[in-house]
Amino acid sequence: MSRYVAAIDQGTTSTRCMVFDHSGRVVASDQTEHEQIFPKAGWVEHNAEEIWKNTRQVCAGALAKADLSPSDIAAVGITNQRETTLVWDVKTGKPVYNAIVWQDTRTDKICAELGALGGGQERYRQKTGLPLATYFAGPKIRWVLDNVDGARERAEAGDLKFGTMDSWVLWNMTGGPDGGLHITDPTNASRTLLMDLDTLTWDEEICGEMGIPVAMLPEIQSSSQEYGQVRDRGVLAGVPIAGILGDQQAATFGQACLSPGEAKNTYGTGNFVLLNTGTEKVMSDNGLLTTVCYKIGSADTVYALEGSIAVTGSLVQWIRDNLKMISSAAEIEQLASSVDDNGGCYFVPAFSGLFAPHWRSDARGAIVGLTRYVSAGHLARAVLEATAFQTKEVIDAMNADSGVPLTSLKVDGGMVVNELLMQFQADILDVSVIRPVVNETTALGAAYAAGLAVGFWESEDDIRANWAQDKQWDPSMEPADRDRQYRNWKKAVTKTFDWVD
Ligand code: G3P
Repeated sequence: MSRYVAAIDQGTTSTRCMVFDHSGRVVASDQTEHEQIFPKAGWVEHNAEEIWKNTRQVCAGALAKADLSPSDIAAVGITNQRETTLVWDVKTGKPVYNAIVWQDTRTDKICAELGALGGGQERYRQKTGLPLATYFAGPKIRWVLDNVDGARERAEAGDLKFGTMDSWVLWNMTGGPDGGLHITDPTNASRTLLMDLDTLTWDEEICGEMGIPVAMLPEIQSSSQEYGQVRDRGVLAGVPIAGILGDQQAATFGQACLSPGEAKNTYGTGNFVLLNTGTEKVMSDNGLLTTVCYKIGSADTVYALEGSIAVTGSLVQWIRDNLKMISSAAEIEQLASSVDDNGGCYFVPAFSGLFAPHWRSDARGAIVGLTRYVSAGHLARAVLEATAFQTKEVIDAMNADSGVPLTSLKVDGGMVVNELLMQFQADILDVSVIRPVVNETTALGAAYAAGLAVGFWESEDDIRANWAQDKQWDPSMEPADRDRQYRNWKKAVTKTFDWVD
């Protein structure tokens, strides 16, 4: 009897493999980072072959750390950075271009041209739940077909396939050029601008308009079912692959936000707030996305409202790597704690434009309120506060859309170890912020999806029972102070607009 379930988390900065036991606790974990490639301002790429090599390596590493063999693993789930777009040759297994990362803004013109056909940014909202923005995969596929020599002809001939990183990893794990399965799930497909949210199928009209051959798109299956087994190209040979969830939906599942009205915020490279809206698809009037939350086997589709923020944790990395103000990300808390407030300084990290609720691809980052009084400590504080203010913007939008104000917020991800940020988040939102014992909710959610499909966990009640609180932060800021700071933040945001010619 296999005692564990594994999850592969192919994220923006690293790839991980984690092994969980039946109580949802981590048994083993291995992780490795990959290169971030910035060929031009606004462009971000990953080497997909490096990512596949790392995937194999971390799977082997996690099993070795706990002295496990594939027969100990009941199933493996895949979760991934969403929207990141890869086109590869099915005969050779070689990508035709690097993966174009979700943060990349090169499709700005393509988006503007499509919007000019009528409807502007809202052109595909009704069918797909998304605004027309550089964030999503469809326009990135179009860019590859337009800019890589011969790509369009090869795609039309059926030689090229598109996938987000879940599809790339799954295709390789199940044999690659030797019969690999070309599959995705509705959570990932709902981030392409190409999927109809009601039918969970590719929309031929939109694909036609974007010039994308439907034949190059993966088959959309559910988020939790046995797709196939790992073939010997993967180190988990013989293990059923039984779950696929985009990473933010996986975190929502891992946080046990399984009923309408439950929400989580993940603090990763960016921040992503997802509110489970049940089987009802809620269209946003306030700049949020409507997206698939999960689809477990043949059960009804569960939808979510999402507030996506492009730059939060990656701003701390930027302070570390580009400005060299700190030598490790953890040091930011100490530096920020050396002062009592932000000294009047606000940092709006519009590095990829601004996502929710603004959707401004013409925005670029700004630091405002500078005087000679401002120190490195104040700047560090402004960096952390930017995460909390951006979160408030999307929670306000969510409250307006749902009509029911959120009363507490479950949090997870790398930055939630930062006590100063968590307290400031509770203060600015004026709601309690709650961190679970198992903070690795993304990998856990993918493990749950896979484990449910093979009967390792019986039902969603097991997931609810496994969730446990670690710590809670309650708001303690004076309302007038909160209002003043948030007003200043909003003023700072307006300074980032209109920076792209
Ligand atoms: O939509 C982008 C998101 O999926 C990236 O997540 O955790 O890799 O920053 P993360």
